Parts: sequence; C-alpha cells; structure tokens
Amino acid sequence: MTLQDKLVIALPKGRILDEAMPLVRAAGIEPEPAFDDPKSRLLRFATNHPHIDIIRVRSFDVATFVAFGAAHLGIAGNDVLMEFDYPEIYAPLDLGIGKCRLSVAEPVEMAEADDPTRWSHIRIATKYPEVTRKHFAARGVQAECVKLNGAMELAPSLGLCTRIVDLVSSGATLVANGLKEVEVLAEVTSRLIVNRAALKTRPDELSGWIDAFRKACAS
Ligand code: PRP
Repeated sequence: MTLQDKLVIALPKGRILDEAMPLVRAAGIEPEPAFDDPKSRLLRFATNHPHIDIIRVRSFDVATFVAFGAAHLGIAGNDVLMEFDYPEIYAPLDLGIGKCRLSVAEPVEMAEADDPTRWSHIRIATKYPEVTRKHFAARGVQAECVKLNGAMELAPSLGLCTRIVDLVSSGATLVANGLKEVEVLAEVTSRLIVNRAALKTRPDELSGWIDAFRKACAS
C-alpha cells in the first residue's frame, strides 16, 4: 500500500477534539499512542487500521485539507463550512458536538441603548468576514470586516472595531471582556465532512465510515 492509498481523516485541534475523540473511537478508529502524548510533535498518526491515518490541524484547515482532497474525511463546524463554502465538501452528518453559536457582540454599555435593526454600516473584527458580510448584506447593512485570527474580544476595548463576530459557547469570554451578545448569526455544531471526489472513487470505503460515525452518534 502506498501513502496515496491511505485514507486520511482530518481532526480539529483544540476543544472540539475532546468531544470528537469518543465518536472516532466508537466508530472503531484508535490512533497510535503518540496522539495522546502532549509532548509529541507528530502531526500525522497511524491508527489500528493499517490503511487509515489521522492528521490533527487547526479547525479552519480541516475544511481546506478535505476540500483539496489531501484528507478524505474530516470533522468541521458549520461555522467553518459557511465561511469557506467549498463545493468540493459534502457534509452528510451532524455529529451534535461542539455546540455553540456565531454571534455579534459589543461593549455592555453600548448594548444597553443599541438596536441592531437600525444598523446601516458597522465595523466588525472577526475570523468570519465572508459569513459576516453576507449575513448583513442580506438585510442591507454594510459590514466592514477586519480579519483577526483569535482574541477578537480585545478589539472593541482597544478601538480596533466597535463590534465583533465570534463563537460563543458559555459566554464567559464575552463577560470577562465586558462584551454582550446582541445578535445570533448561526447555531453551530460539528459535521462529518467528506471530499466529494473521494466519495466517487472510494464509495464503499467512505460510505462505510459515514455509517460507522452515524452509528457512533446514535449509541
Ligand atoms: C473560542 C471563541 C471565544 C471562546 C468562546 O475561542 O473564539 O473566544 O471560545 O467560548 P466561551 O463562550 O465558552 O467563553 P477558543 O478558546 O476556542 O480559542 P481561539 O480563540 O483560538 O479560537
């Protein structure tokens, strides 16, 4: 078997991984021990299936690896899928993990007197410029987006932008930074994603794994 024959599964680093791994294991895939070793610098891991490898990448990059066919399967939030809107990705299964929402937030003192239905032009710091622009354009609001890759919550207090669009889960990060959620753009969960071309060239194998994940979710 060559490296190209291997089935590659892309998993997101960070919080979602803790929720994803029980499903991956219930689907019958067990990575090599280095996967759970925090000191390991490995990025590609063998599994109990000689023909399956797992890669661990940033959540946004899971979608890119799968869209370009560098990975065949992956786990990605619909926030990431909405931002990239890759036609090459098929998302057959909502895994019901990573539940949160993509929301607009602004400083608490501003939120008290603000009315989102009256906005016409807003400046927003976000990791999601495409989703944000489209969401507001649909109701005639011009959203000028400044792209950040993290720590969005700092932007209003430092005068970079008055508002942010970011993921909200417990809401603790907003509270800690003096911000209030004022509008929800989307409810977010993680999906099993598949490269469409791979599904055509390896239909039995990939359908089998989609089924295994479906059963893992149901159990
Ligand atoms: C996410 C998100 C918020 C935070 C929200 O960041 O960007 O900052 O979680 O969670 P909460 O509502 O429970 O406080 P994460 O910690 O995943 O790191 P990131 O900034 O690198 O994406």
